[in-house]
Amino acid sequence: MIVGIDKIGFATAKYKLDMTDLATARATDPNKYSIGLMLDTLSIAPITEDIVTLGAAAAEKILTSEDKANIDMVILATESGIDQSKAAAVFVHALLGIQPFARSIEIKEACYSATAALNYAKLHVTVHPQSKVLVIASDIAKYGLHTSGEPTQGAGAIAMLVTSQPRILAFNDDNIAQTRDVMDFWRPNYSTTPFVQGMFSTKQYLDSLKTTWQEYQKRQGLSLDDFSAFCFHVPYPKLANKGLNKLLDKSVSDKAKERLVQNFEDSIIYSRKIGNIYTGSLYLCFLSLLENTQSLKAGNRIGFFSYGSGAVSEIFSGNLVAGFNGMLKYDHLTEIDDRILLSVDDYEKLFFEELQLDADGNANFADYQTHTFALDSIIEHQRRYRKN
Ligand code: HMG
Repeated sequence: MIVGIDKIGFATAKYKLDMTDLATARATDPNKYSIGLMLDTLSIAPITEDIVTLGAAAAEKILTSEDKANIDMVILATESGIDQSKAAAVFVHALLGIQPFARSIEIKEACYSATAALNYAKLHVTVHPQSKVLVIASDIAKYGLHTSGEPTQGAGAIAMLVTSQPRILAFNDDNIAQTRDVMDFWRPNYSTTPFVQGMFSTKQYLDSLKTTWQEYQKRQGLSLDDFSAFCFHVPYPKLANKGLNKLLDKSVSDKAKERLVQNFEDSIIYSRKIGNIYTGSLYLCFLSLLENTQSLKAGNRIGFFSYGSGAVSEIFSGNLVAGFNGMLKYDHLTEIDDRILLSVDDYEKLFFEELQLDADGNANFADYQTHTFALDSIIEHQRRYRKN
């Protein structure tokens, strides 16, 4: 049976920070960000936008009432959890009005977990071909002011509907995963921002890519010539670019090289403007490729490299389905470019605003711009959401 991605949607915060402004404020050469990291702007979320509002907004864009009546599982992948017990997927399930007899869970392993969620969705649909599974990858990447990770922040969510007879991408059964216990990036419960060994993390990313790719080639008997494009986890586009260059060794034909490099350029258009969205970053790369490529056709094989610090990585592939273009209905580029530009002062206040609860656990918020949904208030420690 063919199982894969039937629909894909995206939502990001309504505010942006220009990397040139950040560079000036941090007394850094702007080329370090634009050329060294390949980043132009970052999405900045106010306190009223969280993984629930972003995830629900991304899903609301793509789901019909028929989908909502048939979805029987909602998996939300994140490392920006809002509650240690209750899954953010339960809030999303309610906001979207999905029929009640569904399973809703949250899943975690740094930036990797959306890939695990897709695997679970694939297994579920294989056993229940009438089922539809909503997989959401939603995160707010926040490293802290004046840290080396500050230029690689971001916010956004990807929603994917996994079904049988998918209309965008058919999964191949070729996944190879790798786990290695390393401390490259982690966030203990007592910290609101991650600890990161920046250079070590880039080495782990690239070495995980190299060794997982070697194992993939050995087990699947495929080479890069079999791929039309390769999508990467994109903490910042320059690292993904290094990843691609690592794969493009002497064995790859010139024709394949040219094709893969061009498609890579199309796949990082959105990440350059959004920054890191952790779990959704690989799938934002895929969406950017789909919406900006001129050359891809039905049947083309797309490779995926998923990486989550800690670290778990995975390589798998899927083939584009006939008519995939017709499933891409949104002008995401305009939506991304229309975000409100913040000064560095305003970014510092807005992105790092702390929750102020009164003695009874209540909080109200200023009227920030958000996507389709907003965190309206907190009443007796309970988060209340509204549709705008
Ligand atoms: P840094 O120390 O700010 O930067 O850290 P740098 O000095 O290494 O410079 C970065 C690049 O800019 C270099 O390019 C410089 O040469 C270049 P490279 O040598 O790598 O090709 N550069 C310039 N280029 C042009 N003009 C100039 C100029 N100056 C310098 N004037 C670092 C960079 C990525 C380490 C930092 O931003 C960081 O710690 N980021 C957060 C961690 C991260 O993103 N790690 C990536 C791998 S781990 C991962 O992907 C998982 C993650 O998504 C989390 C998860 O899984 O949950 C992060």
